[in-house]
Formats: sequence, structure tokens, C-alpha cells
Amino acid sequence: MPTIRIKYAPGAVSAVHNADNFLKTLDYMLGLCYYTVYKCDFIKKCSSPVYGFGMYGKEETEMKRKIYLSSPCMCGEEQKYVREAFDTNWIAPLGKNVNEFENTIKEYIGAKGAVAMNAGTAAIHMALRALGVGSGDIVFCQSMTFSASANPIIYENGIPVFIDSEPDTWNMSPNALRKAFEKYPHPKAVIVVHLYGTPAKMDEIAEICNEHNVPLVEDAAEGLGGEYKGKKLGSLGKYGILSFNGNKIITTSGGGMLVGNDEAMLQTVLKWITQSREPARWYQHEELGYNYRMSNIVAGIGRGQMTALEDHVSQKTNIYNKYKEAFADMPITMQPHEADTKPNHWLSAATIDKGCNISPFTIMDRLAEENVETRPIWKPMHMQPFYKDCDYFAHNDDGTSISEDIFARGLCLPSDFYPQMKPEEHDEIIDIIKRCF
Ligand SMILES: Cc1ncc(COP(=O)(O)O)c(C=O)c1O
Repeated sequence: MPTIRIKYAPGAVSAVHNADNFLKTLDYMLGLCYYTVYKCDFIKKCSSPVYGFGMYGKEETEMKRKIYLSSPCMCGEEQKYVREAFDTNWIAPLGKNVNEFENTIKEYIGAKGAVAMNAGTAAIHMALRALGVGSGDIVFCQSMTFSASANPIIYENGIPVFIDSEPDTWNMSPNALRKAFEKYPHPKAVIVVHLYGTPAKMDEIAEICNEHNVPLVEDAAEGLGGEYKGKKLGSLGKYGILSFNGNKIITTSGGGMLVGNDEAMLQTVLKWITQSREPARWYQHEELGYNYRMSNIVAGIGRGQMTALEDHVSQKTNIYNKYKEAFADMPITMQPHEADTKPNHWLSAATIDKGCNISPFTIMDRLAEENVETRPIWKPMHMQPFYKDCDYFAHNDDGTSISEDIFARGLCLPSDFYPQMKPEEHDEIIDIIKRCF
């Protein structure tokens, strides 16, 4: 792993007044490790406590560059739009950047409308509200996902019922979904997820939902840029939701978007997320409101990021293909996808083959020693203590679970591209993994 060599300078101390902020800055700058923070009593000029750092008493210390799972990649255009917001003094949760970001996304996705929010979670919440999910309503949700897919069901006092994954894409199992409909014929909505940017079996899932006349919410938080049979992820359900969280394929540091074709309902959502203010001369509120709107600054970052989306998808696809090729003769299988789909490969995820006695944690620990970040697969929601009492439907007819198996054998691999992860660093990561077997 390439290292940064830092010269130890005993006299030189970087000083700040807040240890927490200092640590955060240092982590960001140096990618962690090999430093120590201490209170510098000897900086006499300052009256309040001052913190400094020094290398571990060596003449020269080796600093391993941290390789992240997925970190932001700014293309440069972002600052132009953020500057525009400053120059025009539109710092509020409205303005040209918000409008243009929404327009760009809806054109890209191929939807009639888009509403920008401060989080993907907020967008899921509003999708459920738009579908009328309320107290006691059942909502089917893919079990293997991030908790944000399911939590908004609870915000509306709904009842989540979790659906297992199938082995071909790791997403919602049509087989398990059918079983859930047999027991609960009238759920209010179904939430499907494109895990790590890999498209779910949308035709089969949509067919089952249509048979029961139940709307589909497409949690494409991880899937922007991916395609299902030529259609962009996010455009395939009644509502699609996107996330621009810090580690997503494009980021606004934090943010989300609700997309769909029901323009009238999206206008109502826009009202809800701006505190449900009615068009009156005074502050008139006839419904419960939320403060979920995206700011014009953040939207400027999003406009810039959209100019780099296709490049990010192609770079992430190269990362995935390189892993796949390297592990072709190994007992490691990359997350599969269907032939007529195009994942965005936001995160390259893999499972260790059954019968191989290597645990994913062995690989994760070994890479951590080299300052390389990895992550377990999302722990399925039906296994989470918070959701332990919820009903769950397994893919296999004998009741055994695909998502539990993927969780037990899987891991997410570093998926950054140059310059965050250089090709030679990627080679070395692959080499370390191979040597674990
Ligand atoms: C599958 C999934 N759904 C929802 C979310 C929530 O998005 P956000 O973090 O923008 O609220 C995320 C990511 O964070 C996610 O990975």
C-alpha cells in the first residue's frame, strides 16, 4: 500500500481550540493513524485550552493512505453553481439551483416531476404519505436494505412486512412477495430497493403489484445512473426516490429527491415539505407540515455532480469488472445482475462461496490493517432488534432465507476510483484478499 511519509518536527505544533474539530480535520487530511493529540500547556500565549499533535516520537513516521469504500468525487463544476448561489444571495431552501437540479434529474430519469429534499429518507417518507399510508396500514418492504427504506413506514404508524431477497440480484424476491400477498392481500404499498445499484427484478415485481393494484415505491437511493431494460432506475415505480448522501454515486453532502409522474401530487408534496404553508397572505396551515426542502447551496453541488454522473458510473463499472476478473478462479462471487440490466456499480459487493471456511470478517480485518475500509452487507431488517416482531417472508419454500445467507457470506469492497483509489492500490487490495485464502 503506498504511504505518505511525514517528517517528525518536534517543535512544530498545529494548534486549535477544539479537540473534536481538530481530530476530524486531521482524519480528513491524513486518513487517520500514527498521530497523537495532546493538550499543549506550553503554548503560553493562548488563555483557553489548546490542542496540538505530534508524530509518535520517531524521526520519520510512515502514514498509510486511507482507502475508503466510497468517497465523494467533486468534478469542479460544483463550485460554479455554489458561487452563483452566493453571488445572487440565494442561500435559502429555494432558488435557481434547486429548480435546475430538479429539472436535470427529471429529464435524466424520464419522469414528469421531481421534488428535491434534504434526504432520501425524507423522500421515502413523502412517497408513503402521498400514497396515503397511515396508522395500521401494511407496507411490504425489501428486508435486505438500509434501515432508511423501512423507517418511514413507522413514521406514519404503518406496519412493515419484510420480504426476502432472491439470489440473482440480491433484491426483493418475487417468490417471497407472492407469499406475502397470500397472507396480506391489501398492503398499502410495496418498497423495492436496487441494492448497491443493482436493479431488482422489476417486471416480475411490478406484475405481482399490478395484479393486486398496489403501488410500488422504488428506493433507488443507491441506484442513480443504473438501468433496467433501457429505463433509468427511479422511473419504474409509482414513485422513485434518490439519495445524494455523502457516499452515494453523486453527492450533495446530504439530500434526496422524489420523482414521479403525478405532477399534482408532487405539488402537494412540495407544500408538505415546506411546512404545509398554504398560498395566503399570512402563514396559513391546514395540514401537518415538514421542513424537508433542499437548500439552494446543496442543489448547486448536485447540478455540478450531475455533469459527472456518467463518468462515475463508468469508473465504478470498471472497478467491479476488475474485481470480477481477478476473482474468477477464487471462491468469491461478485453481486450478480440480470443480463438486460445495467447496474451503476455504486458499491462492489461480493460473497465468499459456500463451503469455504474464510469469514468475510477475516478479509475485512486484514484490509483494515492496511487502512482499507470495507463494510458488511446490510443486515436484513427482519434480523434487526427494532423490527424483530415484524412478519417476514422467505424466498425458499422450506423457509430458509437468501438475505440471511448473503449477509453471512458477503462484504462490500472499496469502490472508489482514481484519484481516491489508484489502479495500483486496487491491485494491492485484490492481492491482499487473494492472500487471505
Ligand atoms: C437503500 C437506501 N435507502 C434510503 C437511504 C436514505 O437516504 P438518505 O441517507 O439520503 O436519507 C439510503 C442511504 O443512505 C439507502 O442506501
